[in-house]
Amino acid sequence: MPRLKRVLIVTVTVVTVLAAVLGAAASWLYTSADVSTAGTRFGRALAIPPLARPTIEADGTKLFELTMQAGQKEFTAGKKAETWGFNGAHLGPTLRAQRGDKVKVRIKNTLDERSTVHWHGMHLPAKMDGGPHQMVEPGDTWTPQWTVDQPAASLWYHPHPHGRTEKHVQRGLAGMFLLDDDASATLALPKNYGVDDLPVMVQDVTIDGGKLDFDRGLLRDTGFLGERTMVNGTLDPYRKVSDELIRLRLLNASTARIYDFGFADDRSFSMVATDGGLREMPLRLDRIKLSPGERAEIVVRMAPGERAVLRSFPHEGYGSGWERRLAGGDDTFDILELRADKVLRPSPELPAELAKPEVPDGSDSVRERYFGLVTSSINGREMKMDRIDLTVTRGTAETWTVRNEHGTPHNFHVHDVQFRILEVNGKQPSPELQGAKDTVLIPPDTTVKLAMRFDGPADPNTPYMYHCHLLYHEDLGMMGQFVVVEKGQKAGTVRAPDSHAGH
Ligand code: C2O
Ligand code: CU
Ligand code: CU
Repeated sequence: MPRLKRVLIVTVTVVTVLAAVLGAAASWLYTSADVSTAGTRFGRALAIPPLARPTIEADGTKLFELTMQAGQKEFTAGKKAETWGFNGAHLGPTLRAQRGDKVKVRIKNTLDERSTVHWHGMHLPAKMDGGPHQMVEPGDTWTPQWTVDQPAASLWYHPHPHGRTEKHVQRGLAGMFLLDDDASATLALPKNYGVDDLPVMVQDVTIDGGKLDFDRGLLRDTGFLGERTMVNGTLDPYRKVSDELIRLRLLNASTARIYDFGFADDRSFSMVATDGGLREMPLRLDRIKLSPGERAEIVVRMAPGERAVLRSFPHEGYGSGWERRLAGGDDTFDILELRADKVLRPSPELPAELAKPEVPDGSDSVRERYFGLVTSSINGREMKMDRIDLTVTRGTAETWTVRNEHGTPHNFHVHDVQFRILEVNGKQPSPELQGAKDTVLIPPDTTVKLAMRFDGPADPNTPYMYHCHLLYHEDLGMMGQFVVVEKGQKAGTVRAPDSHAGH
C-alpha cells in the first residue's frame, strides 16, 4: 500500500509539473507570437525600382535584360546581408510594356543554383511562363518572348523552381511588371512613375545581426513570418510626395504573410485596380486585404504638409484564435509614410468609370471542377512534375470551385489566366474582389467559385501551374499542373527535370 501510494504521488506530481510546464510554454508561445511595428520612426527614403530600358529590335520587339545575381545589402548600417537580385544585389527593376507589344526578356542565371523566372498574372504561352519546367541552369541564359495581349495591370515576376520558390523569393528575387493600354493611358489617374504613381512591394523580413533570418519558428504552418516589413527593399521607408492624389501599386510579395492595408488615421482611399487590371469604377474603402501574390492599386488623397502612414492592421479570416495568432492575424505593421509637401500640385478628380474587366461571367463555362485544399495537397495529391493533373480545351471557359478544407489559411493562384470570382461561400463576393483576379485568399472553411477562359495557345506537352501562393505550401506540393489543348486533342507527357542540381 505505501509503495502504491508513493507511485501514485510521484505520478500525480510529474503529470502536474508537466502540465504546468506545457501550459507555461503555450502561453509564452501565444503571447510572444504577435508583433507590432506601430509607431515606427520612418528614417529611410523609399527606394523606387528603376524602370528597365528595353532595346528595340528591328521588328519592334522590346528586349529586356535580367541577370540573376548574388550580392550583399546593408539592411543595418555597417553589416552586410547575403541577398539575391536581378541586375543588382536585391530585388529587380520594373519592366513595363503596352498591350500589343512584342516583348522578349533575356535572363542570365549567374547564381550557383538553377532557378526560373515566372511572369505572375501574364497571359502567355506555357513555354514562356517560367514555371518549374523552364529551369535556367547556372551560367545559362533563357529568352522567353510573347505578345502582350491583356489589359493594363500591375503584374510581377519571381522564380518558380519546384520546392525552392520560397527561398528564392525571400533572398530577393522579385520585381514588378507593369502593363499599359489605351484606357490606362487616357484616364485621369496618377501615372507619373515614382512621382505620383508608386510601386509598393511589401515583404516581411527578420534581420538578425544584419543578416536575413528565414527561420520559420515553432508551429508556424503558414510558413515564414518576419518581424518587420520593408517596401521595395527599404526598411522604415518614407516618401516625399508633391501631388494631391497618390497612386500606390500594392503588391504582397511576402512568402506567407497576409496584410490588411489601411491608413493609421483610418482615412479612406479609392481602389482602382485588382490583380488583373482596372476596376469598372473606383471603390471607396478603408481596408484592403492582400494575401501573398495579390495586388491592388489604390489612390489616396494627401493634404499639404501632412504625413499619412500606410499600416497593416490585425484582421480576421483565420481558423481558431491560436491559428490567427500563429499565422500573423494579430500583427500590426507600419508599412510606409507618405510626406506631403507644403504645396501640392492639384490632381484631377478620379474618373467615375475606369475599364470593364475582361473576365468571363461563368455563363459559358463548359466544365466545372473541384479543388480541395488541405495540408500540402490539392484533392489529396501533392505536386508531381511528371503528372498532368488536368486538361482544358483552348477557347473554352470553365468554373472552378476551390474549397479550403483546412484550419489554416491558403490562397489559390492560376497561371496564364485572370478569373472572375463568382461566389464566396455561395454569395456574391465583396466589392474589392470584383474584377480580374489571378490570386484569391481562401480562409478556412471557405469556398470560392471562379470563372476563367483558356485562350491558349494549345501546348499538350507544357503545363501551367495552379497552386497555393503561400510559398511554403507551394514548395511542399500544394500545386498542380494543367495543359491547354485543341478540342479533341489529348494531354501529352511531361518529364520531371533531371534532379542533378538545385538541392
Ligand atoms: Cu506568383 Cu505560380 O506564381
Ligand atoms: Cu503565377
Ligand atoms: Cu496554402
